[in-house]
Amino acid sequence: MLNVTATFFPPIEEYYEQLRRIWENQWLTNRGALIQELETSLKEHLGVSNILIMNNGTIPLQIALKNLGQKGEIITTPFSYVATTAAIVWEGCTPVFVDIDPLHLTIDETKIEAAITSKTRAILATHVFGNPCHVEAIEAIAKKHQLKVIYDAAHCFGVRYKGESIFNYGDVSTCSFHATKIFHTGEGGAVFCKEESLRAILYYNHNFGHNGPLEFHGLGINGKISELQAAMGLTNLAHIHYIIENRKRAVDYYDAGLNFEKLKKMQLRPGTQWNYHYYPIQFESEAQLLSVQSELNKEGIYPRRYFYPSLNTLNYIKSAKMPHSENVASRIMCLPLSHQIKENELEQVCHLINQKLC
Ligand SMILES: Cc1ncc(COP(=O)(O)O)c(C=O)c1O
Repeated sequence: MLNVTATFFPPIEEYYEQLRRIWENQWLTNRGALIQELETSLKEHLGVSNILIMNNGTIPLQIALKNLGQKGEIITTPFSYVATTAAIVWEGCTPVFVDIDPLHLTIDETKIEAAITSKTRAILATHVFGNPCHVEAIEAIAKKHQLKVIYDAAHCFGVRYKGESIFNYGDVSTCSFHATKIFHTGEGGAVFCKEESLRAILYYNHNFGHNGPLEFHGLGINGKISELQAAMGLTNLAHIHYIIENRKRAVDYYDAGLNFEKLKKMQLRPGTQWNYHYYPIQFESEAQLLSVQSELNKEGIYPRRYFYPSLNTLNYIKSAKMPHSENVASRIMCLPLSHQIKENELEQVCHLINQKLC
């Protein structure tokens, strides 16, 4: 069986080494030594000024929206994973969708201003499959209208834009360290923000609002991660170059082997140093996608329709039609891609797809 991705499992002896430290410390959660070490290592690895690791990539979105969304309207993209929209609704805010730019698949920055009202509080945009939004245009709009900017950068581990970490853009960026991600802690995630005062608030928020054992700074929730997960992160970080290099090898193979007279790829924004996280391809029609998917499934190959559906069509959402997002969501599929995918598997995927396109 070949799935859309494969979780990276580090050599178990290396994980044991980290686990042994937890036993020595006799400290299992509540920001122990390993979590702090992981934050320091990630700051250095990514080139960010601060990071707060949390228990997944959704809670940081919710905490950011709780502070910056103020139950108002949030301008957002319909082409993302459901967590982006769900976090907005969960926090009592109202998503206002702006269609995507069909080349880059990110929110169409030229349509944002028309969607701003007196109730707009923030823009929550996704760097889709690690492809950065037009961050300069979004920053200019946010400044002009005094809005906050949150980036769902769940797919962006290691992505750099114009020479610096993509996590350094916006008021807040979030990332997912889920087991299917390039860098993972099993379950986990992080929030990044440049402003120290905001980081302090996010910090209290993720730990019940505790300011010491007996005092509370304000409302909070449990967004903490355990030392067991931090141990997985420290072990995996040592292998990140291997993981990304192997994904690049697979991406190069697909680029050379697929028939791009019939298929379309997302355009990477110039200035992006990508992380090869996903391999999304767009078919000519949904019918063509479904027939290719069925052919691959017959051979035990399971790509994923991702992102699907367009989020403006969710049953708890009221929204205008988003023609580009709905169209792309109906025709896009992520092909199997991982650190361990073999050349014969890549060849088989290319062959089965190209054959079906003729
Ligand atoms: C774009 C996007 N945002 C948010 C999330 C949520 O991350 P997590 O599963 O770590 O909560 C995901 C998960 O895949 C995602 O793809």
